Amino acid sequence: MSEQNLPTMRAAAYTQFGSADVLEITDLPRPHIGPDTLLVRVKAASVNPVDYKVREGKLQGLIDAEFPVVPGWDVAGVVEQPGLDTPEFQAGDEIIAYDRKDIVHGGTFAEYVSVPVRTAAKKPAALSFEQAAGLPLAGLTALQTIRRSGLRSGQNVLIHAASGGVGSFAVQLAAHAGARVVGTASERNHPYVRSLGAEPIAYGDGLVERARALAPNGFDVILDYVGGQAIDTATDLLAPGGRIVSITDARARTELGGDYVWVRPDAADLAELAALADDGVLKVEVAEVFDLEHAADAMRAVESGHVRGKVVVRV
Ligand SMILES: NC(=O)c1ccc[n+]([C@@H]2O[C@H](COP(=O)([O-])OP(=O)(O)OC[C@H]3O[C@@H](n4cnc5c(N)ncnc54)[C@H](OP(=O)(O)O)[C@@H]3O)[C@@H](O)[C@H]2O)c1
Repeated sequence: MSEQNLPTMRAAAYTQFGSADVLEITDLPRPHIGPDTLLVRVKAASVNPVDYKVREGKLQGLIDAEFPVVPGWDVAGVVEQPGLDTPEFQAGDEIIAYDRKDIVHGGTFAEYVSVPVRTAAKKPAALSFEQAAGLPLAGLTALQTIRRSGLRSGQNVLIHAASGGVGSFAVQLAAHAGARVVGTASERNHPYVRSLGAEPIAYGDGLVERARALAPNGFDVILDYVGGQAIDTATDLLAPGGRIVSITDARARTELGGDYVWVRPDAADLAELAALADDGVLKVEVAEVFDLEHAADAMRAVESGHVRGKVVVRV
Protein backbone atom coordinates (compact mmCIF):
# COMPACT_ATOMS: atom_id res chain seq x y z
CA MET A 1 0.00 0.00 0.00
CA SER A 2 1.43 3.45 -0.82
CA GLU A 3 1.63 6.06 1.97
CA GLN A 4 -1.28 7.99 0.43
CA ASN A 5 -3.58 4.99 0.84
CA LEU A 6 -2.72 4.19 4.44
CA PRO A 7 -5.32 5.18 7.03
CA THR A 8 -4.26 8.17 9.10
CA MET A 9 -3.67 8.60 12.81
CA ARG A 10 -3.18 11.43 15.28
CA ALA A 11 0.39 12.01 16.35
CA ALA A 12 2.64 14.59 17.99
CA ALA A 13 5.35 15.46 15.49
CA TYR A 14 7.90 18.08 14.49
CA THR A 15 9.38 19.09 11.16
CA GLN A 16 12.36 21.09 12.44
CA PHE A 17 14.72 20.83 15.40
CA GLY A 18 14.09 23.17 18.32
CA SER A 19 12.36 23.66 21.67
CA ALA A 20 9.18 21.87 22.71
CA ASP A 21 7.30 24.57 20.77
CA VAL A 22 8.09 22.76 17.48
CA LEU A 23 5.83 19.85 18.49
CA GLU A 24 2.42 19.85 16.80
CA ILE A 25 -0.57 17.53 16.87
CA THR A 26 -1.12 16.38 13.33
CA ASP A 27 -2.54 13.62 11.12
CA LEU A 28 0.01 11.21 9.66
CA PRO A 29 -0.23 7.91 7.79
CA ARG A 30 -0.32 4.85 10.03
CA PRO A 31 3.07 3.11 10.01
CA HIS A 32 3.96 0.24 7.69
CA ILE A 33 4.91 -2.98 9.41
CA GLY A 34 7.58 -5.41 8.30
CA PRO A 35 7.60 -9.22 8.56
CA ASP A 36 8.95 -9.24 12.13
CA THR A 37 7.10 -6.11 13.26
CA LEU A 38 3.81 -5.51 15.07
CA LEU A 39 1.35 -2.70 14.49
CA VAL A 40 0.56 -1.52 18.02
CA ARG A 41 -2.29 0.72 19.15
CA VAL A 42 -0.60 3.00 21.66
CA LYS A 43 -2.22 3.36 25.07
CA ALA A 44 0.63 5.20 26.74
CA ALA A 45 4.15 6.35 25.94
CA SER A 46 6.74 7.63 28.36
CA VAL A 47 9.13 10.52 27.90
CA ASN A 48 12.88 10.10 28.24
CA PRO A 49 15.53 12.85 28.21
CA VAL A 50 16.83 11.46 24.89
CA ASP A 51 13.52 12.49 23.28
CA TYR A 52 14.21 16.19 23.83
CA LYS A 53 17.92 15.84 23.07
CA VAL A 54 17.03 14.41 19.63
CA ARG A 55 14.38 17.13 19.15
CA GLU A 56 16.92 19.85 19.93
CA GLY A 57 19.15 18.41 17.18
CA LYS A 58 21.88 17.68 19.73
CA LEU A 59 22.32 14.05 18.77
CA GLN A 60 22.72 14.52 15.02
CA GLY A 61 25.49 12.26 13.79
CA LEU A 62 24.84 9.78 16.59
CA ILE A 63 21.12 9.24 16.12
CA ASP A 64 19.70 10.23 12.75
CA ALA A 65 16.23 11.75 12.51
CA GLU A 66 13.95 12.00 9.49
CA PHE A 67 11.20 14.66 9.37
CA PRO A 68 8.42 14.61 10.26
CA VAL A 69 9.65 13.14 13.53
CA VAL A 70 7.19 11.52 15.90
CA PRO A 71 9.22 11.32 19.12
CA GLY A 72 9.05 8.58 21.74
CA TRP A 73 10.73 5.21 22.18
CA ASP A 74 8.73 3.79 25.11
CA VAL A 75 5.31 2.29 24.58
CA ALA A 76 2.59 0.29 26.29
CA GLY A 77 -0.25 -0.75 24.01
CA VAL A 78 -2.25 -3.44 22.28
CA VAL A 79 -1.25 -5.43 19.22
CA GLU A 80 -3.56 -4.28 16.43
CA GLN A 81 -1.97 -6.38 13.72
CA PRO A 82 0.81 -8.96 13.97
CA GLY A 83 3.48 -9.15 11.26
CA LEU A 84 3.96 -11.91 8.71
CA ASP A 85 6.05 -13.96 11.12
CA THR A 86 5.61 -12.81 14.72
CA PRO A 87 4.45 -15.97 16.53
CA GLU A 88 5.41 -14.43 19.89
CA PHE A 89 2.39 -12.11 19.77
CA GLN A 90 -1.27 -12.22 18.69
CA ALA A 91 -3.72 -9.45 17.87
CA GLY A 92 -5.12 -8.12 21.14
CA ASP A 93 -2.02 -8.88 23.22
CA GLU A 94 -0.99 -6.16 25.64
CA ILE A 95 2.68 -5.35 25.15
CA ILE A 96 5.45 -3.01 26.19
CA ALA A 97 8.49 -2.07 24.12
CA TYR A 98 11.65 -0.02 24.03
CA ASP A 99 10.91 0.74 20.42
CA ARG A 100 14.22 2.23 19.31
CA LYS A 101 14.83 2.11 15.62
CA ASP A 102 17.98 3.16 13.77
CA ILE A 103 16.33 6.35 12.49
CA VAL A 104 14.05 8.48 14.66
CA HIS A 105 10.90 9.01 12.63
CA GLY A 106 7.84 6.96 13.61
CA GLY A 107 7.87 7.16 17.41
CA THR A 108 5.40 6.30 20.14
CA PHE A 109 3.69 9.70 20.69
CA ALA A 110 1.00 8.60 18.24
CA GLU A 111 -2.12 6.47 18.03
CA TYR A 112 -0.22 3.68 16.28
CA VAL A 113 3.39 2.62 16.09
CA SER A 114 5.35 -0.18 14.45
CA VAL A 115 7.19 -2.33 16.99
CA PRO A 116 9.92 -4.85 16.02
CA VAL A 117 9.35 -7.99 18.11
CA ARG A 118 13.00 -7.91 19.23
CA THR A 119 12.11 -4.78 21.27
CA ALA A 120 8.89 -6.04 22.87
CA ALA A 121 7.57 -8.10 25.79
CA LYS A 122 4.15 -8.87 27.26
CA LYS A 123 2.88 -6.04 29.44
CA PRO A 124 3.04 -6.85 33.17
CA ALA A 125 -0.54 -7.43 34.33
CA ALA A 126 0.24 -5.77 37.67
CA LEU A 127 0.89 -2.41 36.00
CA SER A 128 -1.51 0.04 34.37
CA PHE A 129 -0.71 1.07 30.79
CA GLU A 130 0.63 4.37 32.12
CA GLN A 131 2.95 2.63 34.59
CA ALA A 132 3.99 -0.02 32.07
CA ALA A 133 4.99 2.66 29.54
CA GLY A 134 7.49 3.97 32.07
CA LEU A 135 9.33 0.69 32.35
CA PRO A 136 11.16 -0.11 29.08
CA LEU A 137 13.97 2.38 28.37
CA ALA A 138 14.69 3.38 31.96
CA GLY A 139 14.25 -0.15 33.33
CA LEU A 140 16.52 -1.66 30.69
CA THR A 141 19.13 1.00 31.34
CA ALA A 142 19.10 0.19 35.05
CA LEU A 143 19.29 -3.56 34.41
CA GLN A 144 22.02 -3.37 31.78
CA THR A 145 24.21 -0.93 33.75
CA ILE A 146 23.96 -3.00 36.93
CA ARG A 147 24.87 -6.11 34.95
CA ARG A 148 27.82 -4.33 33.32
CA SER A 149 29.02 -3.13 36.73
CA GLY A 150 29.24 -6.70 38.06
CA LEU A 151 27.45 -5.65 41.28
CA ARG A 152 27.06 -8.60 43.65
CA SER A 153 25.06 -9.32 46.79
CA GLY A 154 26.72 -7.85 49.87
CA GLN A 155 28.54 -5.10 47.96
CA ASN A 156 27.77 -1.43 48.36
CA VAL A 157 26.71 0.80 45.49
CA LEU A 158 26.34 4.56 45.12
CA ILE A 159 23.58 5.48 42.66
CA HIS A 160 23.57 9.05 41.36
CA ALA A 161 20.16 10.55 40.46
CA ALA A 162 18.41 7.84 42.45
CA SER A 163 14.99 9.52 42.16
CA GLY A 164 14.98 9.82 38.36
CA GLY A 165 13.60 7.48 35.75
CA VAL A 166 16.66 5.25 35.53
CA GLY A 167 17.76 5.70 39.14
CA SER A 168 14.40 4.66 40.57
CA PHE A 169 14.65 1.28 38.83
CA ALA A 170 18.35 0.86 39.60
CA VAL A 171 17.80 1.37 43.33
CA GLN A 172 15.08 -1.29 43.38
CA LEU A 173 17.10 -3.77 41.28
CA ALA A 174 20.30 -3.27 43.28
CA ALA A 175 18.48 -3.66 46.59
CA HIS A 176 16.72 -6.76 45.26
CA ALA A 177 20.14 -8.17 44.29
CA GLY A 178 21.22 -7.88 47.92
CA ALA A 179 23.44 -4.81 47.63
CA ARG A 180 23.59 -2.00 50.16
CA VAL A 181 22.39 1.05 48.21
CA VAL A 182 23.15 4.73 48.78
CA GLY A 183 21.40 7.13 46.40
CA THR A 184 21.82 10.84 45.66
CA ALA A 185 18.74 13.05 45.36
CA SER A 186 17.52 16.44 46.55
CA GLU A 187 16.09 16.52 50.12
CA ARG A 188 12.56 16.64 48.76
CA ASN A 189 13.03 13.16 47.29
CA HIS A 190 14.75 11.50 50.26
CA PRO A 191 11.61 9.78 51.63
CA TYR A 192 10.90 8.48 48.10
CA VAL A 193 14.45 7.16 47.60
CA ARG A 194 14.30 5.50 51.03
CA SER A 195 11.00 3.84 50.07
CA LEU A 196 12.76 2.29 47.06
CA GLY A 197 15.41 0.68 49.25
CA ALA A 198 18.32 3.16 49.40
CA GLU A 199 19.90 5.41 52.00
CA PRO A 200 19.46 8.89 50.50
CA ILE A 201 22.11 11.61 50.55
CA ALA A 202 22.01 15.10 49.06
CA TYR A 203 24.15 15.94 46.06
CA GLY A 204 26.09 19.23 45.80
CA ASP A 205 28.66 20.69 48.21
CA GLY A 206 29.85 18.15 50.76
CA LEU A 207 28.80 15.10 48.74
CA VAL A 208 32.13 13.30 49.21
CA GLU A 209 32.04 13.76 53.02
CA ARG A 210 28.41 12.59 53.26
CA ALA A 211 29.04 9.56 51.10
CA ARG A 212 32.30 8.69 52.92
CA ALA A 213 30.44 8.87 56.24
CA LEU A 214 28.21 6.04 55.03
CA ALA A 215 30.97 4.07 53.28
CA PRO A 216 34.34 4.88 54.89
CA ASN A 217 36.15 2.36 52.65
CA GLY A 218 34.45 3.60 49.49
CA PHE A 219 31.93 2.01 47.15
CA ASP A 220 32.35 -1.24 45.23
CA VAL A 221 30.21 0.19 42.44
CA ILE A 222 29.15 3.69 41.39
CA LEU A 223 26.30 4.05 38.91
CA ASP A 224 26.24 7.48 37.30
CA TYR A 225 22.88 8.58 35.89
CA VAL A 226 23.50 12.35 35.90
CA GLY A 227 27.14 13.20 35.09
CA GLY A 228 29.04 16.26 36.34
CA GLN A 229 29.75 15.88 40.04
CA ALA A 230 29.14 12.14 39.88
CA ILE A 231 32.12 11.75 37.54
CA ASP A 232 34.26 14.38 39.27
CA THR A 233 33.97 12.67 42.67
CA ALA A 234 34.28 9.06 41.50
CA THR A 235 38.00 8.71 42.23
CA ASP A 236 37.42 9.89 45.82
CA LEU A 237 34.49 7.56 46.38
CA LEU A 238 35.40 4.27 44.72
CA ALA A 239 36.78 1.52 46.93
CA PRO A 240 40.09 0.01 45.79
CA GLY A 241 39.13 -2.18 42.80
CA GLY A 242 35.73 -0.48 42.61
CA ARG A 243 34.04 0.20 39.30
CA ILE A 244 32.02 3.09 37.87
CA VAL A 245 29.46 2.68 35.10
CA SER A 246 28.02 5.81 33.49
CA ILE A 247 25.26 6.48 30.99
CA THR A 248 26.10 10.17 30.66
CA ASP A 249 29.87 10.49 30.28
CA ALA A 250 32.34 8.35 28.34
CA ARG A 251 35.12 9.50 30.72
CA ALA A 252 33.88 6.74 33.01
CA ARG A 253 35.51 4.38 30.53
CA THR A 254 38.35 6.45 29.09
CA GLU A 255 39.61 8.07 32.32
CA LEU A 256 38.19 6.09 35.21
CA GLY A 257 38.68 2.51 34.02
CA GLY A 258 34.97 1.77 34.25
CA ASP A 259 32.35 1.57 31.56
CA TYR A 260 29.90 3.66 29.53
CA VAL A 261 26.64 2.04 28.49
CA TRP A 262 24.17 2.78 25.71
CA VAL A 263 20.97 0.94 26.53
CA ARG A 264 19.92 -1.69 23.95
CA PRO A 265 16.47 -2.97 23.10
CA ASP A 266 16.37 -6.54 24.37
CA ALA A 267 13.20 -8.62 24.53
CA ALA A 268 14.55 -11.09 27.11
CA ASP A 269 15.73 -8.31 29.44
CA LEU A 270 12.39 -6.56 29.07
CA ALA A 271 10.52 -9.78 29.91
CA GLU A 272 12.72 -10.12 33.00
CA LEU A 273 11.74 -6.59 34.11
CA ALA A 274 8.07 -7.31 33.41
CA ALA A 275 8.24 -10.45 35.58
CA LEU A 276 9.82 -8.45 38.41
CA ALA A 277 6.98 -5.92 38.13
CA ASP A 278 4.42 -8.72 38.28
CA ASP A 279 6.20 -10.15 41.34
CA GLY A 280 5.91 -6.79 43.08
CA VAL A 281 9.70 -6.28 43.13
CA LEU A 282 9.66 -3.34 40.71
CA LYS A 283 7.33 -0.39 41.17
CA VAL A 284 6.90 2.35 38.58
CA GLU A 285 6.50 5.86 39.96
CA VAL A 286 4.51 8.01 37.53
CA ALA A 287 5.10 11.67 38.32
CA GLU A 288 2.57 13.04 35.82
CA VAL A 289 0.37 11.92 32.92
CA PHE A 290 -0.33 14.21 29.94
CA ASP A 291 -2.81 13.62 27.12
CA LEU A 292 -1.29 13.37 23.62
CA GLU A 293 -2.52 16.91 22.88
CA HIS A 294 -0.18 18.10 25.64
CA ALA A 295 2.86 16.03 24.64
CA ALA A 296 4.92 19.24 24.42
CA ASP A 297 4.21 19.92 28.11
CA ALA A 298 5.23 16.34 28.92
CA MET A 299 8.57 16.97 27.23
CA ARG A 300 8.97 20.30 29.05
CA ALA A 301 8.39 18.53 32.37
CA VAL A 302 11.25 16.11 31.66
CA GLU A 303 13.46 18.96 30.47
CA SER A 304 13.22 20.43 34.00
CA GLY A 305 15.65 17.67 35.04
CA HIS A 306 13.83 17.09 38.32
CA VAL A 307 11.13 14.55 37.59
CA ARG A 308 10.55 11.86 40.21
CA GLY A 309 10.14 8.58 38.33
CA LYS A 310 8.50 8.88 34.90
CA VAL A 311 6.41 11.33 32.87
CA VAL A 312 3.83 9.63 30.67
CA VAL A 313 1.84 10.61 27.57
CA ARG A 314 -1.60 8.97 27.42
CA VAL A 315 -2.93 8.34 23.93
N1 LIG B 1 23.32 6.08 27.75
C1 LIG B 1 22.09 5.61 27.84
O1 LIG B 1 21.76 4.56 27.30
C2 LIG B 1 21.05 6.38 28.61
C3 LIG B 1 19.84 5.75 28.94
C4 LIG B 1 18.91 6.45 29.71
C5 LIG B 1 19.18 7.76 30.11
N2 LIG B 1 20.35 8.34 29.74
C6 LIG B 1 20.67 9.70 30.21
O2 LIG B 1 20.84 9.62 31.63
C7 LIG B 1 20.32 10.76 32.27
C8 LIG B 1 19.26 10.35 33.29
O3 LIG B 1 18.15 9.80 32.63
P1 LIG B 1 16.76 9.67 33.42
O4 LIG B 1 15.75 9.16 32.47
O5 LIG B 1 16.94 8.99 34.72
O6 LIG B 1 16.49 11.24 33.69
P2 LIG B 1 15.39 11.93 34.60
O7 LIG B 1 14.36 10.96 35.03
O8 LIG B 1 14.95 13.15 33.89
O9 LIG B 1 16.26 12.38 35.87
C9 LIG B 1 15.68 13.29 36.76
C10 LIG B 1 16.28 13.07 38.14
O10 LIG B 1 17.61 13.57 38.17
C11 LIG B 1 17.86 14.00 39.50
N3 LIG B 1 18.97 14.96 39.51
C12 LIG B 1 19.04 16.13 38.83
N4 LIG B 1 20.25 16.69 39.05
C13 LIG B 1 20.94 15.84 39.89
C14 LIG B 1 22.24 15.85 40.47
N5 LIG B 1 23.10 16.85 40.22
N6 LIG B 1 22.60 14.81 41.25
C15 LIG B 1 21.76 13.79 41.50
N7 LIG B 1 20.50 13.71 40.97
C16 LIG B 1 20.11 14.74 40.17
C17 LIG B 1 16.58 14.63 39.93
O11 LIG B 1 16.50 14.51 41.32
P3 LIG B 1 16.03 15.80 42.20
O12 LIG B 1 14.72 16.25 41.62
O13 LIG B 1 15.92 15.22 43.57
O14 LIG B 1 17.10 16.83 42.02
C18 LIG B 1 15.50 13.82 39.20
O15 LIG B 1 14.86 12.89 40.04
C19 LIG B 1 19.83 11.66 31.14
O16 LIG B 1 20.88 12.54 30.78
C20 LIG B 1 19.56 10.69 29.99
O17 LIG B 1 19.64 11.30 28.72
C21 LIG B 1 21.29 7.70 29.00
